[in-house]
Amino acid sequence: MGLFITIEGAEGSGKTTVCKKVTDKLNQEGYKVLYTREPGGVKIAEQIRDIILDVKNTELDARSEALLYAASRRQHLVEKIEPALKEGYIIICDRFIDSSLAYQGYARGIGIDEVYEINMFAINHRLPDATILLDIPPEEGLKRINKHRGFEMNRLDLEQLSFHLKVHEGYEILKKKYANRFVIVDANQTPEKVFNAVYDIIIKKCKEYQLCNNSKNI
Ligand code: TMP
Repeated sequence: MGLFITIEGAEGSGKTTVCKKVTDKLNQEGYKVLYTREPGGVKIAEQIRDIILDVKNTELDARSEALLYAASRRQHLVEKIEPALKEGYIIICDRFIDSSLAYQGYARGIGIDEVYEINMFAINHRLPDATILLDIPPEEGLKRINKHRGFEMNRLDLEQLSFHLKVHEGYEILKKKYANRFVIVDANQTPEKVFNAVYDIIIKKCKEYQLCNNSKNI
């Protein structure tokens, strides 16, 4: 069995850059590693992503949105994540269930526990082995979002800044609620330091799960 790592964070936390750098480094070091992202990761889930993020879909209902994320997650899990875990891969997944809990559950106001329930149906209790939260003060994240505004906008980028502040509050709740699964990294430091911190956490997890490089399990 491989290792299932999810990376979470509010917009502007630098998540995607770190995920890709960490995947490259693990690869260079001889680990079997796979980068993937949500919503998306496989064809059908990417098609659902297009519906969810389409700026024209302003009438999308909050619960429909939560169900679409859950449906895309299910497809991604059965088609890509589960088979790769069986083959012993380290999965670096850019967002997973906790994004739904923070964005739909808390920020949209559906309720964290309600969104957790529909996601349990979708993922059938396959939770990540560890979730790395790139923690950034809301003001700093918002500054970074504004820098990129108008660059590549999706429907969620159109949200008011108050929504993004709520997402941050949502993650604050999650890191306490799921303290055994969450590992926190301060994302308000140089990209190099953030990368090193994330990399070290994953290597520690590999040792704990007795995964070593060159694809040999100890
Ligand atoms: P990305 O910017 O990380 O690609 O994510 C796309 C957007 O989707 C981002 O605004 C976060 C949002 N999102 C949710 O609201 N719920 C979810 O479950 C996931 C995976 C993403």
